[in-house]
Amino acid sequence: MLLQIPTEQIPIQKIDIDKSVRLFIKREDFIHPEISGNKYWKLFFNINNYLESQPENPLIITFGGAYSNHISAVSALGKLSEIQTLGIIRGEELENKWSDNPTLVFAKRNGMNLKFVTREEYRHKEKLTEFLQQEFPDALIIPEGGTNENAVEGIKMMLNNDTKDFDYLCTAVGTGGTIAGISSFCEENQKVIGFSVVSDDSLQDWISELTSKRNFHLTDAAFGGYGKINDDNVRFINDFKTKYDIPLEPIYTGKMMQKVFEMIDENYFPDGSKILCFHTGGLQGIEGANLLLEKQNRDLIR
Ligand SMILES: Cc1ncc(COP(=O)(O)O)c(C=O)c1O
Repeated sequence: MLLQIPTEQIPIQKIDIDKSVRLFIKREDFIHPEISGNKYWKLFFNINNYLESQPENPLIITFGGAYSNHISAVSALGKLSEIQTLGIIRGEELENKWSDNPTLVFAKRNGMNLKFVTREEYRHKEKLTEFLQQEFPDALIIPEGGTNENAVEGIKMMLNNDTKDFDYLCTAVGTGGTIAGISSFCEENQKVIGFSVVSDDSLQDWISELTSKRNFHLTDAAFGGYGKINDDNVRFINDFKTKYDIPLEPIYTGKMMQKVFEMIDENYFPDGSKILCFHTGGLQGIEGANLLLEKQNRDLIR
């Protein structure tokens, strides 16, 4: 089954803050309960082009960490499209522990086969990809985070008439596909800010390869490193939910919004600016994050 373009408009919600700028959030997380937010759009052309090519032995292979939103989304997509999926998972130690991990349990339940590899093997994903493509010539191999040219093209769908009126477009950045798409297809006068949740010096150059535009700016929103969650992050997410009734997760959207609030407080945005943040989904990650927080006797994400 091909992924469809939803007929219903994705809502843009106002976030009431008593400041001299106007803040909004586009709820891309509403797009699909299991293929949520930017994942839907990054996979859109990848999967539809693949299915249209009518492969004889359809199989989707992709890569991710233990709590990956992308792995979760691809597994759900596999189930929906009745295509076999294979997830290459970072960390061989998970082989005997996957049943403690809600993301991997969900993936397995969707019929995804999991292959656990060492961090060293994972680092050399290009080699693995070559090997897998030889072994499964009909397979669609999607890179980590789903980021490739098709993903960048798909992200165009997050932009429409309603998004044209904003001065700033904000997104969390992991593998860079989402910001590259926003940057490629937004209006000439719009500024794009990427909130980088990974500490990776090569990100700027990599995104510059994915988009020819130079309208984007990366800011550090790692808060101590990828996947690290501090008590402030948890407090921010819980306060945000109480105040605005909008759930955020701690790896991407929570860190982006926290940093946006900090930048507003520091008067980064000129008075009167209209700021749009993309809620890129990934709420499935909250359960896994809470298991880790619980083990450390810390406050949970509500
Ligand atoms: C919820 C969420 N937000 C943002 C991102 C960052 O997207 P990208 O990897 O395209 O930079 C991801 C990763 O796909 C994600 O899962």
